[in-house]
Parts: sequence; C-alpha cells; structure tokens
Amino acid sequence: MHQRVLGPQQRAVSAMGLGCMGMSEFYGPSDDAESLLTLHRALALGITLFDSADTYGHGHNEQLLGQLVRQIGPARRQPLCLASKFGIVRQPGQAGRRIDNSPAYIRQACEASLQRLGVEQIDLYYCHRRDPEVPIEEVVEAMAGLVRAGKVAQIGLSEVSASTLRRAAAIHPIAAVQTEYSLWSRDPEAELLPACAELGVSLVAYSPLGRAFLTDTLATGQLSDGDFRQHSPRFQGEAAQANQQLVAQLSAFAQARGQSNAQVALAWLLAKHPQLIPIPGTRRIAYLEQNAAAADCALSAADVAELDKLFDPARVQGERYPASGWLGIEQAM
Ligand SMILES: NC(=O)c1ccc[n+]([C@@H]2O[C@H](COP(=O)([O-])OP(=O)(O)OC[C@H]3O[C@@H](n4cnc5c(N)ncnc54)[C@H](OP(=O)(O)O)[C@@H]3O)[C@@H](O)[C@H]2O)c1
Repeated sequence: MHQRVLGPQQRAVSAMGLGCMGMSEFYGPSDDAESLLTLHRALALGITLFDSADTYGHGHNEQLLGQLVRQIGPARRQPLCLASKFGIVRQPGQAGRRIDNSPAYIRQACEASLQRLGVEQIDLYYCHRRDPEVPIEEVVEAMAGLVRAGKVAQIGLSEVSASTLRRAAAIHPIAAVQTEYSLWSRDPEAELLPACAELGVSLVAYSPLGRAFLTDTLATGQLSDGDFRQHSPRFQGEAAQANQQLVAQLSAFAQARGQSNAQVALAWLLAKHPQLIPIPGTRRIAYLEQNAAAADCALSAADVAELDKLFDPARVQGERYPASGWLGIEQAM
C-alpha cells in the first residue's frame, strides 16, 4: 500500500484509510464478527489509518477498535493511526443531538475514548463538529493540552471552513481536516482544499463513495429502518433519479477501464492532491479489497477532467444532509 503523510509533521499513513462508522450504525445492521475479520484484513492489506468517533454506535465503534487492539498486541498496534472524534453528544434511543466544544467536555471525552480504544494515546483526535459559541482558539488550546499530556499524538478538525482552519493552525499544528469530498460533493475544492495545501494540512475525505450511491450497487428502495440514507435528500425521489443518470455514466467510464465505480471514485480523489487520504467505509472484506486496490489505479489528467465535468456540481441534485444534519457543519466563510 502506498503511503501518504498527515499534516506538517508528515506522519506516514496508508494512502487509503478505512472508515469504521458503518460497523456500528447509520447504514443498517452490522455483525461484529464480520467487522473484526474486515479490520484484520485491512491490516494485512497494509491499511494503517482507521477512522472512528465516540458517537458512532454510542461508543460501540471505538470498543470494536479496542477489541482489534487487544487481539493484535502492542507491536502491531504501534504503526497504526487510530483516529477518533469528540463533539457530537447524543443519548441512546433519542433523536436529536447537541454539539459540545467546551474544554472540560473535550478532556472528559478524550478520557472516555482512550478507555474504549484501550490505548494510552489517540493517534489523531478530531473536533467532529463546531460549536460556534466556543472560539476555535479555545478548542485547539484544549486539544493541544491533550497533546502535551501525551493523550493525543496529532489533532484534526472535521467539517470546518478554511477561515477556521487558518485560525486553528495559528495555535497548534493541524494534521488533518476531515470533510465530505467525493465526485458528488465538491464543496472543498473552492476554499478548503487550497487552504489545506497552503498550510500542509492533509485532507481526509469522508463518504468518498457517496455513502455507496456512486458504486451503483445500492438499491435505494430497500434501505432498512434507521438507515441514514432514507433521510438524505440526494437519495430521494427525483433527485435520486437525476443522480442515478450520472452514476450510470460513471459505470460506463469504469467498465471501459476494467475498474469498479468505487475504484474510479477513489482514484479520482487520490489524484486531487498528494496529501488527500480517502477513508472509504465498509463492513465487508470483498469491498475492502477492491477499495484498497484503488490505491494503485492511477487516472490520467484527461480522465480526471472528464469526471470533473461529468459530476459538475450543477448536475448533482439534492443536499448532502437533511436540515437537522447541518448542525455544527461550517459552510465557507
Ligand atoms: N467526519 C464526519 O462527519 C463523517 C461523516 C460520515 C462519515 N465519516 C467517516 O467516513 C467514513 C466513510 O464514509 P461513509 O462510510 O459514510 O461512506 P462511503 O465510504 O462513501 O460509503 C460507505 C458505503 O459504501 C459501501 N461500499 C464500500 N465499498 C464499496 C464497494 N467497493 N462497492 C460497493 N459498495 C461499497 C459500504 O457498504 P458496506 O458497509 O455494506 O460494506 C457502505 O454502505 C465513515 O466510515 C466514517 O469513519 C465521517
């Protein structure tokens, strides 16, 4: 597996990470035994960046990674980059959530994540969502305190604007910004990606497969209860139909090159910037292997330009989140 680097400190990680969220919730039922096999296969494929958050499955996702850590022992854990996040506060069984960025909460959340992961240090710790009432300088100062205490190695921010990133980077080195970026989610291209490039911050692209829509394998009419995609405007009605037409063209593009849609979508991201690291999510070994192989699927500049044009943002229909999902997400400012 090729390596890429995280942030100005240039820590090496695999060019393709693994998003673990779906192993706990959001995309229908999951099976821990299958998830653990998938995690072990990821290690064998050379994947070193594993993405989690305290809120995924209300701690379940970090506990699953904790199980992996126990199974592999300290020597094999050492080269891994276990990433987690704080800031989204939800109660099991209740709809709704709030965002907490207060320094006391950050310290408490970090302790709880360390316990669940069963590690002495979180390799990459993100602020998951922003509470505009707490200045970013205070948030980063609290996170820097965790670095000084040895509880966190590197810090990151999720779904922040370029201006917040600049203010944050003036306080402490920011290793990575995580944001939704894919063929059908191109917002980062305007300001965030250029700011990351300028500051040497890595961009970790989440939902790089459009939550499976881009893969052309998802039967949107058969989503189970509790599946996030049932509520996402892009997966609904006329918007989904219009988007499906773009995906059909992506399928033809991929078939002509002997690749899967997922591989083309991931290779397109890798071509966007040398410090961009996609974290496709999967619970299954077959998808994992396909996605990992995309690290070797180079696209020509002409291919990238053709895909840019095919998925021109004006052609994509529907917002990426329902109204309630925008809480704590910063738009460009
Ligand atoms: N910072 C944030 O706010 C934020 C928000 C969302 C996600 N994330 C992180 O980003 C990670 C990835 O995003 P995501 O999981 O939302 O979306 P994604 O990676 O775009 O798509 C995941 C979906 O695609 C399916 N899939 C994966 N590989 C496939 C392949 N080769 N062919 C066909 N289908 C495939 C998966 O199926 P199976 O699960 O059935 O294998 C799953 O349903 C998450 O796991 C999470 O760690 C972060």
